[in-house]
Amino acid sequence: MKMALSINVAQAIVLLVAASLLGVSQAKTVVVGGNKKWRSGFNYTKWAFQNNPFHINDKLVFKYGAPSKSSSAVDVYSMPDLYSYMTCDFRRAKLLAGARQGSGVGFTVALDQLRPYYFACGQSHGLYCKHGMKFFAVPSPRWFK
Ligand SMILES: *[C@@H]1O[C@H](CO)[C@@H](O)[C@H](O)[C@H]1NC(C)=O
Repeated sequence: MKMALSINVAQAIVLLVAASLLGVSQAKTVVVGGNKKWRSGFNYTKWAFQNNPFHINDKLVFKYGAPSKSSSAVDVYSMPDLYSYMTCDFRRAKLLAGARQGSGVGFTVALDQLRPYYFACGQSHGLYCKHGMKFFAVPSPRWFK
């Protein structure tokens, strides 16, 4: 009986250590831009740098109001590669969330693949992007803390 208990404790410890190494329960959810949310005129490069590192299965939440008289439309695109991202070339970009999809709880993207994620706003003919409304995130595996 005592033997069985100590084996269970040992197994539990192994599981806990493995779970913490893999970060199974530690995925974070981050609002893009913090209290600035997702808006034009804000440079997200610095924000992304300050919020690194991102890890696999972390979630990014884009929050922005629907277009109105007082706020212009913004949206969220996924850029296909670094060059398109650098030059704000939306020709092969993929729309992730339209102008009305950022209100309420916002639009959530899970960083569930080990690849760079390039995000940019496609409104205003790419001008918002060119003025800094873009960032990239490269989620790393949990064990590269
Ligand atoms: C945004 O900030 C980064 C880092 O400070 C800087 O390199 C970049 O030129 C800025 N972009 C714009 C459009 O100001």
